[in-house]
Amino acid sequence: MTVHTPTPKAAARPASYLPGFGAHHVSEALLGALPEGQNSPQKPPFGLYAEQLSGTAFTAPRHENRRSWLYRLRPSAGHPAYAPLPHPTLRSGPFTEAPADPNRLRWDPTPMPDAPLDFVDGLVTIAGNGDVATGAGMAAHLYLANRSMVDRVFYNADGELLIVPQEGRLRLVTEFGVLEIAPGEMGLIPRGVKFRAELPDGMARGYVCENYGALFRLPELGPIGSNGLANLRDFLAPAAAYEDVERPTQVVQKFHGALWAATLDHSPLDVAAWHGNLYPYKYDLARFNTIGTVSFDHPDPSIFTVLTSPSDTPGTANADFVIFPPRWMVAEHTFRPPWFHRNVMSELMGLVTGAYDAKAGGFAPGGISLHNCMSAHGPDVASWQGASSAELKPHKIDNTLAFMFESRWAFRPTAWAMAAPQLQTGYDACWDGFPKGGR
Ligand SMILES: [Fe+2]
Repeated sequence: MTVHTPTPKAAARPASYLPGFGAHHVSEALLGALPEGQNSPQKPPFGLYAEQLSGTAFTAPRHENRRSWLYRLRPSAGHPAYAPLPHPTLRSGPFTEAPADPNRLRWDPTPMPDAPLDFVDGLVTIAGNGDVATGAGMAAHLYLANRSMVDRVFYNADGELLIVPQEGRLRLVTEFGVLEIAPGEMGLIPRGVKFRAELPDGMARGYVCENYGALFRLPELGPIGSNGLANLRDFLAPAAAYEDVERPTQVVQKFHGALWAATLDHSPLDVAAWHGNLYPYKYDLARFNTIGTVSFDHPDPSIFTVLTSPSDTPGTANADFVIFPPRWMVAEHTFRPPWFHRNVMSELMGLVTGAYDAKAGGFAPGGISLHNCMSAHGPDVASWQGASSAELKPHKIDNTLAFMFESRWAFRPTAWAMAAPQLQTGYDACWDGFPKGGR
């Protein structure tokens, strides 16, 4: 456990972090704000309000149980009624507005709109599966923002938000403290946690996996052993930081697929201290300890899993977050790129930077591809030709970062995604022209 050096009213200060995945942290922005020896004393220090935020059921098994205690200037309960807030492009499970489509789909990057949009305004749902009402499935969104949230905070009652910046940094000012994330990193905001997204670069674009299911966790390592892939110490939680702001602040929440809004007379980012194991976190994807073959054949891409949200079927994820980072390719007598495949799991991919090794062209940073259950895919003709004749000397795939949101549930695209001009009409053609084998 860590006691953080007090930093009064630290929301405007640079972010500082507490390392460790799933660790029980203790953090005070106001020295002495944490009660000693109990969670809910009759009179908490400084007249603060003690509040528990649970991310799992009270009775979840101890190794899965996540909750934190927050000590704040005002209780969250002090708010007026929420009223519906329409959103033109945010959608939620169950996804029924466009037909399920077995075709392989790919989208060019979505251009930044001219209209002023903050992180919440700029959410655009591409596809999803499952149902928020049953707590299964996920949604894949883009965010396209060109202004910071001001006197406005957001929280999601439908699930946690895994954010993958593609362009521009995000400064996420949360109830727990400040997370700064840049392209090449990921951030996660738990269900229910209020935050404001600021844009240090004036614009930001990226991807969001909204996970309706079990909380993301590190995958089992099996025979890999006790280290490797994403290591626990590299996940960073924000140290406590709070603001004491008495200005009208709009709170927007997503609940059962729709947005609702209420206005407070103060900022609710007023948590002076917290302790627990439920909190936002960030992770630098360059810290991923990539495992691969040193003999032959391309292993299953599950070796690239950063985080997994399990379903009730062992080994069959509700959602996986998988990355394809820079790495050495050394396999002998092997077709080195991803092989041709048809999978029961459905795959939605994005590209942060560079090029993906199974596609020579057409998949641009900021773009998306969707390969649903049993859709046949793999290297395009150009990539297949190149890899089939390449000299198999050690080769480093560099300056690239692709990722995948993978799910046991097939994705249904939104009507917006199917009508968008970014949807490529000729994607199938990248698999045209393979010469017939058997000769
Ligand atoms: Fe695939």
